[in-house]
Amino acid sequence: MSNIQGKVVVITGASSGIGEASARLLASQGAHVVLGARRVDRLETLVAELNEAGQSAAFRAVDVTRRDDVQAFIDFAVERFGRVDVIVNNAGVMPLSKLEALKIEEWDRMIDVNIRGVLHGIAAGLPLMQRQRCGQFINIASIGAYTVSPTAAVYCATKFAVRAISEGLRQEVGGDVRVTVISPGVTESELAESISDAGGRAEMREFRKIAIPAEAIARAIAYAIDQPADVDVSELIVRPTASPF
Ligand SMILES: NC(=O)c1ccc[n+]([C@@H]2O[C@H](COP(=O)([O-])OP(=O)(O)OC[C@H]3O[C@@H](n4cnc5c(N)ncnc54)[C@H](OP(=O)(O)O)[C@@H]3O)[C@@H](O)[C@H]2O)c1
Repeated sequence: MSNIQGKVVVITGASSGIGEASARLLASQGAHVVLGARRVDRLETLVAELNEAGQSAAFRAVDVTRRDDVQAFIDFAVERFGRVDVIVNNAGVMPLSKLEALKIEEWDRMIDVNIRGVLHGIAAGLPLMQRQRCGQFINIASIGAYTVSPTAAVYCATKFAVRAISEGLRQEVGGDVRVTVISPGVTESELAESISDAGGRAEMREFRKIAIPAEAIARAIAYAIDQPADVDVSELIVRPTASPF
């Protein structure tokens, strides 16, 4: 039996891209998946499809920028399945632009979703995992957590922060709770649709031509969950073979 079978896995940002692909893969491997995002119509369709296929899934609307919402999401998972084994803090946005464009609301949104969203997931899940004396956080960073490029300063800053927070958490809670950072390179998803800046969009179109399927990242998530409890896969970078970045 795999170490995924029977685990309760909560995924934020499960309405598209990497979150959706992870939900599909983990449910097919026997996990109970609890899916959150704002577009509940998509979650409803996905959950119905998984349950009809004999798998185990539930959903709840969640806006990760709201702490109470994230707490209610985790509480819902516990009510539904009795525990939470893994929280995949995956929700993210990437409205790229040069700093001189002063798209300050977009900077705030990236900070709120990409950093605060992860912190809210930790705040909601950590006391529970400590009570359970086991659990795993899988925080989705990016290759932008390792290097910076023009138009991506704020996005990269948020992903550097995800790595810093994750490493701090890992050092503090090691023993019972595993902490994993998975950093995708360019991957097929809807992420680039949040770019409002024409320059940023054009650059991304070129950059995304070599994108790998979202399932490639889902497999990395499954690998990290599947390890025995005393093995913590702390960091993985998964990128297109053709990528120079
Ligand atoms: N694709 C790539 O090339 C790539 C590369 C590196 C890192 N990543 C990271 O991978 C993660 C997943 O992104 P993706 O590529 O799969 O893009 P995506 O298809 O755009 O998915 C992003 C998900 O985040 C959710 N989301 C956005 N704001 C939210 C909020 N306030 N509250 C709750 N959910 C929210 C979206 O759902 P709703 O809109 O329905 O709420 C959606 O399900 C992100 O953290 C991203 O930074 C992606």
